[in-house]
Amino acid sequence: MSSQRNPLTKFLLLSAASFAIGTIHGMLQVMPPIRHWLDSIGSPYGGPGHMIDPLAHAHMNLVGGAVMLAMGATYHLLPQFVNRPIYSQRLVNLTFWWTATGAYSFYVALLAFGFWEGSLLHRAPEQIPAVQRYYGPVIACAATTMAIGFVIYFYNIAKTVRSARQ
Ligand code: HEM
Repeated sequence: MSSQRNPLTKFLLLSAASFAIGTIHGMLQVMPPIRHWLDSIGSPYGGPGHMIDPLAHAHMNLVGGAVMLAMGATYHLLPQFVNRPIYSQRLVNLTFWWTATGAYSFYVALLAFGFWEGSLLHRAPEQIPAVQRYYGPVIACAATTMAIGFVIYFYNIAKTVRSARQ
């Protein structure tokens, strides 16, 4: 086996790990006692429950699982299709770290605020607005981090295609 790992391996490994986490999350959220609690806190249409199902569940599977796989596959296949190397290997790594950090912090923030506000809804609903004040900045930081990963990816792909046309 080669001692040098392909830099795209991490995209595939994180994708597989995310599908595993997203699938376990999906199995847990249909178990009757958990389903009942999620329904009681607004899932799937609104309220704190909405953060856990569908938002956290969807983004773990779709961004952590599907998008990571698509990014890794594109970085592998595009050079073969356009007959040019990827514009920047550094940007390949930055794509991974920004998107992965953003997607996982987005997931953890949605779960944390979903459980926190969900438990308050039953015992001290008047405290929810105070907690909600933190939700906006935290989720905005996570979402922006994830979006930066996407932008780096689009830029690297666009520059690669452009270099192939010249
Ligand atoms: C920078 C990347 C992304 C950010 C910041 C982001 C953020 C969000 C936010 C804030 C919502 C909630 C809207 C609401 O409360 O009604 C949402 C919903 C959703 N997002 Fe994303 N998203 C991103 C990427 C993606 C991608 C790439 C996919 C799919 C491949 C996706 C799939 C979904 C779905 C399916 C919903 C709707 C869930 C539902 O309420 O039924 N998102 N997203």
